[in-house]
Amino acid sequence: MAHAQPLRTDASLMVHSLSLITRNETLRSILARVDTIAASDSSVLLIGETGVGKELFAEYIHRTSSRAERPLVKVGLAALPHELLETELFGHERGAFTSALNEKKGLFELSDRGTIFLDDIDDFPLALQSKLLRVLESHEVMRVGGTTPIPVDIRLITATKVDLKELVDRGIFRADLYYRINVVPISIPPLRERRDDIPLLIEHFLRRFAPDKQLVPAEEALRAMVSYSWPGNVRELRNVVQRMALFASDTIQLKDLPPEIRTEDPLQLLVKSCHQCLVDDHMSYDQVIACLETNLLRQALENADGNRAQAAKTLGMSLSTFRDKLKKYRIDDTERT
Ligand SMILES: Nc1ncnc2c1ncn2[C@@H]1O[C@H](COP(=O)(O)OP(=O)(O)OP(=O)(O)O)[C@@H](O)[C@H]1O
Ligand SMILES: [Mg+2]
Repeated sequence: MAHAQPLRTDASLMVHSLSLITRNETLRSILARVDTIAASDSSVLLIGETGVGKELFAEYIHRTSSRAERPLVKVGLAALPHELLETELFGHERGAFTSALNEKKGLFELSDRGTIFLDDIDDFPLALQSKLLRVLESHEVMRVGGTTPIPVDIRLITATKVDLKELVDRGIFRADLYYRINVVPISIPPLRERRDDIPLLIEHFLRRFAPDKQLVPAEEALRAMVSYSWPGNVRELRNVVQRMALFASDTIQLKDLPPEIRTEDPLQLLVKSCHQCLVDDHMSYDQVIACLETNLLRQALENADGNRAQAAKTLGMSLSTFRDKLKKYRIDDTERT
């Protein structure tokens, strides 16, 4: 049976009931890549912070693949006790251990001709990693207590929030397994790195959670939401919008937002984004300091409506030091007073 082709509009993709909303260039190019590999059987490793949409991407890949009519079996490795994992994944024969009164099919067998999604793969116990690798390499699974391998045809999608390579370097993740699952790595950027998606997602979730209300955020509320750092990414945004949709009646005001979004300290924001530069963009210490100073000077000037004396005062420095710094960083402003 032919599977439905994704229906593309300008900013959203609908696959069956699944909607993946984005207008961000980076995410769109990632999606274009996903479209080209979805049809193949290659293993995909989804990398990204909590709430960025890894599971949604896994569903998207499965539903646009030729395996769409077969099951997508999701396994949350962080939530599954390690002692249960082996029999859950690989199954067991009758009498394999005292409580094994009946045979049990494992999740690999249940994913046959479909897709298995191993979430939080970094939590996969080292002791079982060679067994997982064997399934992937041989396309056969051996139940606990079994003697005959059972053929399985599976497509593997994994997800992680951490850098698996680092776990390999620390000896807690097998290098051979890492290379086997990392055939197509896909990094999904956090929401704070694709802020152009925020208004669109707000609109999408408002429509979803309050279809009968005509809710819109006031400009100030929208601005606060766009500049907030969203550590919980799209999930956090969805939850916030869901709560607002419940209580607001027409326009969502700044005061309707949770305090962390309403009052995120601008200085904290600066420090956070500079820390991000240092870690993600590998800028040098001097570059980060220069970026932080430039932003602080600009912001002080803006808050003081261009009045240098007042801006210098809020930063606790003399006017001459302030002027020197503006010159040093070539901050071009027109002094209004
Ligand atoms: N681009 C998007 N468009 C619409 N909804 C999205 C988008 N990205 C994420 N979501 C929604 O946000 C929520 C969180 O996404 P998801 O569960 O896929 O994140 P995750 O990366 O798997 O998080 P975790 O690491 O915590 O498991 C889900 O309800 C998902 O449908
Ligand atoms: Mg998830």
